[in-house]
Parts: sequence; C-alpha cells; structure tokens
Amino acid sequence: MEAIKEKIEALRKEIERMNYRYYVLSEPEVSDYDFDMKLKELERLEKEHPEFFDPNSPTQRVGSDVSKSFEQVEHAYPMLSLANTYSEGEVQDFYNRTKRALNEDFEIDCELKYDGVSISLIYENGALTQAITRGDGVRGDNVTANVRTIKSIPLRLHGNDWPQKFEIRGEILMPWRVFDELNREREENEEPLFANPRNAASGTLKQQNPTVVAARKLDSYLYYLLGETLPTDGHFENLEKARTWGFKISDAMKKCRSLDEIFDFINYWDKERKNLPVATDGIVLKVNSLRQQLNLGWTAKSPRWAIAYKFKAEQAESRLLSVDFQVGRTGTVTPVANLEPVQLSGTVVKRASLHNADIIEALDVHIGDSCYVEKGGEIIPKITGVNKEARFMIGDKVRFITHCPACGAKLERKEGEAAWFCPNHFGCEPQIKGRIEHFAGRKAMYVNIGEETVNQFFNAGLIKNAADLYTLQPAQILKLDRWAQKSVDNYLESIEESKNVPYERVIFALGIPEVGETGAKRLANAFHNIDALMGATYEQLIAVDDVGGVIAQSVIDFFNVESNRVLVERLRTYGLKFALDEETLAERTDKLAGRTFVISGVFALHSRDEYKAMIEKNGGKNAGSVSSKTDFILAGENMGPAKLEKAQQLGIKIISEDDFLKMI
Ligand code: IVH
Repeated sequence: MEAIKEKIEALRKEIERMNYRYYVLSEPEVSDYDFDMKLKELERLEKEHPEFFDPNSPTQRVGSDVSKSFEQVEHAYPMLSLANTYSEGEVQDFYNRTKRALNEDFEIDCELKYDGVSISLIYENGALTQAITRGDGVRGDNVTANVRTIKSIPLRLHGNDWPQKFEIRGEILMPWRVFDELNREREENEEPLFANPRNAASGTLKQQNPTVVAARKLDSYLYYLLGETLPTDGHFENLEKARTWGFKISDAMKKCRSLDEIFDFINYWDKERKNLPVATDGIVLKVNSLRQQLNLGWTAKSPRWAIAYKFKAEQAESRLLSVDFQVGRTGTVTPVANLEPVQLSGTVVKRASLHNADIIEALDVHIGDSCYVEKGGEIIPKITGVNKEARFMIGDKVRFITHCPACGAKLERKEGEAAWFCPNHFGCEPQIKGRIEHFAGRKAMYVNIGEETVNQFFNAGLIKNAADLYTLQPAQILKLDRWAQKSVDNYLESIEESKNVPYERVIFALGIPEVGETGAKRLANAFHNIDALMGATYEQLIAVDDVGGVIAQSVIDFFNVESNRVLVERLRTYGLKFALDEETLAERTDKLAGRTFVISGVFALHSRDEYKAMIEKNGGKNAGSVSSKTDFILAGENMGPAKLEKAQQLGIKIISEDDFLKMI
C-alpha cells in the first residue's frame, strides 16, 4: 500500500514539473504523448485507490465538482484598487510626493499592468487552498475549483522556504490567441462574442462547470504577496522568491531609482507590449520596501505607495476601402467602415464604426483616407479621426445615404436624434429578420437558432415573422441544407421549451422599440397580462416607475399596428405566456409600495440580488444611488463611506437586514 502511495505521489510531482516547464517557463521537456501517458497512469492509480485522493493532484486540473453558485468568502485583506494616472506629470507628482513623505532613499518597482481578472490565491503548507475573485473588495466568489484548472497556477509549491500561510494576488488572463479562437468558435455557433480578453476571462471564471474552464486555456501572472511572514522587506525580492516556488511572475519588472529610469521603462513597454501574448493596459509603480509601504499607508480606496499609469488607448491607422450602411431590427441605419486589415491591440481589425451622419460630416472623411481606429469597450472598434496629411489622392467624400440600402425606402430622422432610420418596418428584410433573431435570442425566448438559421428559413420562404417559428413542420426543415433529424428535434424541443419562458421575457421578445430587459420587467409588473398592457393608456404607462414618455409612446405605437396585434394573438394560441404566473402573483404584496430602497454593503442572510427581488416583489423600488427620493438604505457590513455621509446629510433612514426582513 505504501508503495502505491509513493508511486502516486512521485507521478504527481513529475507531472506538475512537466506542467511548470510547459506553462510557466514555456520550455517543455517531454512530448505531449509522454505527458498524456503519465497523466493516464496517474488517473488509473487514483481511481483504483480513492483513499489517496488529493484535490491538488494534477488530475484534478481538468475540473470536477460542479457547484450551482459560488460561495462568498471574505478577504483576509480587503482587495483595493490603484489610483490611476494618465500623464507623465502625475507620475512625477507621485514620485515627488513619495520622496517628501519618506525623506530617505527609496526604490520604485515598475511592472506591467495586466488587463485581466484579479484573483487572490491562498496557500497553506505549500498547497493551494482557496482562490477568491475581487467581488466588492471585501468579499468575493470562491472560484477555487475553476482556478485549479489553470495550468500556470501551482497547486503545490516548489522548494520549502515559503511561509506556512500566505496570499498571492495577480491576474487571470486569456491570451490573445485563445481569445481569437474562442470568438471564432462562438461566431460559428451563433453565440454572442466577447468584446475583449478580460470579459472572456471573467466569463470563463464564472462558469459553473470547471471542465469548460479547463478547455478555455486561461493563463496567470502574480504580482502581490501578502502575509504575516514574507521572506524579505523588498516587494521585488519577494516576487523573485515566489518565482522559485513555481508562480508565473512577469519578467517585465524593474527597480528604478530615478524618474528617468521610470520613464524609460514606461516608454519601452508602451511599444513592446504589443508583442506580448496577453493584454496590458499600463504600468504599475510600487514603492519597493514593505516598511516604507507601511509608512506611506493607504487611503480609503487605494495604497499611497503605488499608482497605475495607464497607456493611451492604442490607435492604428488604416485605409478606408468602403462604407456599408447596416439596417438594424428597429430600422436604425449604422455606418460601418471597411478598412484594410490592420493589427490593433492584439487582433486584426477590418471593420470599424463610423458612428452617425453628423460625425461622418464632422470628420470630412473620403474613401481612400487613412483613418485612425481605436478600440472602445464594444466588439466593433471605432474611427476616431482622419490623417489628412496622409491624403495623397482624394476619393469620394463619404455621405450618409438618403434611402434604405435594403428596401429603398426614404430614410427619416426623429427630431433631436442623430440616427436615421428606415420607416418601412414590415417590408424591409433586415428589419424583419432582425426582429425574428431578437425574438429567438438568449435573453428572450431562447429558441435554438441564430442569424444564419433565420436567414435560411426566411430565404426559403418558411418564415415571415416570429409566430411562423411555431408552425414550421419537420419535413419543411429537413429539406434544407445542413439539417438532419437530430438538429430538427433540437429545434422543436427548444420551441416547446420557449412556451415556459416567463411573461416579462415574452414582452421583451416582442421587440417593442425602446423596451429593453428591465423595461419589459417593469411593464410586466405593472400590467399583469398582455390585454392590460395592450389596453394601457399613455397616462397609465407613464405612471409606472421609470417608464417615461418615450417608452410609453413606443408601447402605444407598437400595439396600434394591426400586424403586431395579430402576432400577439397567434403567439397566444401557440401557448406562450402572456400573463404573470399565479404563483408569482400570489407572492406579491404592496407592503413596500411607493418606497424606494438603496442597497449598500455586504449581507449575511441573503445576497444583494435576493434583497432586490424581495423589494420588487413587495411593491418597492430599487435605486442605484442615494438621492432625496430614497426612503431607506438597506445597509450591510462595510457600507460605502460616501453613501453613508450622503444618507446622513439627507436624513435617510438606514436599516439593517433584520429590520428589513421584519418590514416584509
Ligand atoms: S498591485 C493594492 N500590480 O490593476 C493594489 N495590480 O486598480 C495592489 N493589476 O487591482 C495591486 N497588474 O487587478 C498590481 N502588476 C500589477 C498589476 C495590478 C494589473 C490590476 C489589479 C489591481 C488593478 C488596479
């Protein structure tokens, strides 16, 4: 028995060493095949001897225990952020401030600012015990099972000179290459794309199934050690130590003794970062000595011993080839530039938004112009300017179109709005298809089809509106390309399931202009069935909290159109939910009617979302920020000091969880 245990342990060590060489050092020493053989052998031994189970075995990196939602855990040290600076002047200020405050020699450690998801890892006796997300800084999600699948994070540390218990913080990242591949796959499967690797990494880390996380190939960089007994007084030196324990620590770190050295580092990496496999968005400057860090201390939000210098948004320059005008489901026309492919922060850009008619006019852009492109938070980058000096031959001036590119109707513009739209809502193809796609979408009826399939059904003449999705016959679909019995069954199943989608999502699915997810919820809560909603007057509609004149008019206009009423009637006969559930209705009270709540802090008995739902169920309203309209602040632990001060100024009542639960 002992021999088997030893064998298992030796294999675990060997496999972890291979992982380390591959994922941390990028210097693999064995072939993938040899690696797989070793892993298989270990899996077999562990299966035969479950008594030697260890959550930190490399076999567990593939992901195992599936949990419903993440447990919330309190951070031993709050997870604060850094003050951001955007100019050289501010870096100088930081340096001079530090110099004055310390009044002795000091070193500034310069590092890259990695743009991923922050994580806190806890190690006890050399083994990973917990991985927690930032959350609200005080408490985060326990994502240990997911983090165990990240191969560059050591489950057991090398050497033996680590503190018995310590925390190490860093960033979980999705490399550009993995991000591109994932988005390509999602596009093929007609799934929504991630806007950037950070969102993709964050979405991955929140996955309920660690096997999915393992498949997404996340990476990590660690940059901050915390604990009672760290090896030395130097932050840089401690990170170098952590490197020997098996952590992935960036090589881009430098101890600087002057502003010149700091600016050299910044300027070098502002260019060089474009060649890195992961996203970075700045430089972090940290006073190196932990003793000096303690002396400088913290403000309520961030340390005084560190700042982040953010790089300017990366810009690329590329030639404008042509402009497309796209028509969305509500008829709005969006101009999109086709560019010569150009590399921009890690991905190749070929298309960029040209905003609207007014901006096109202001940019005075011509075909063939060399345009500046930047990435915002959205999936599609935007044109921010034209390099007129690079104009050597002037092409046609880009003008906003006057007629719909799809149906030829004359475009219209609402007073005071920048966007032009096609008014031919029922005869314009992209609008019809767009509405069906919206109806079938994940947040609406969640029918198992995307853009391509809607196109296919529409072009084959099988559907003209969303209701037609419910009368499609298997034989009709089977005649189409790429369909087989199995995929038809999946489709029909999702159609059946859509009949259980709750009323508020059905309202959202109808695609009433201006009515988003929250708007639909508000309308559903105020008008408990579709007949009440269809019969509502303008006055009744604007009486609903947060429903303004624009939404009210849009709802009225929508139901004034006969074909929309016919659509609703047809969907009703197919069994969609057009009223709130009896159960939901029975749970409703008006105990909190007319009362507005702001939720702040961390709670022990229920989550914030649960409290929000309770407030709504009892007729109350949730607001995001404290104002004179707030009636109560439901305060948990660590309520934000700004909110507290404002509440006191305005004389708003602050209640605890217990008080609230008694109220309802
Ligand atoms: S040190 C007390 N170092 O940027 C804060 N942070 O707002 C200690 N980040 O929360 C953080 N790269 O998520 C540090 N080399 C680096 C970093 C880094 C990225 C993130 C981190 C932090 C945020 C700053």
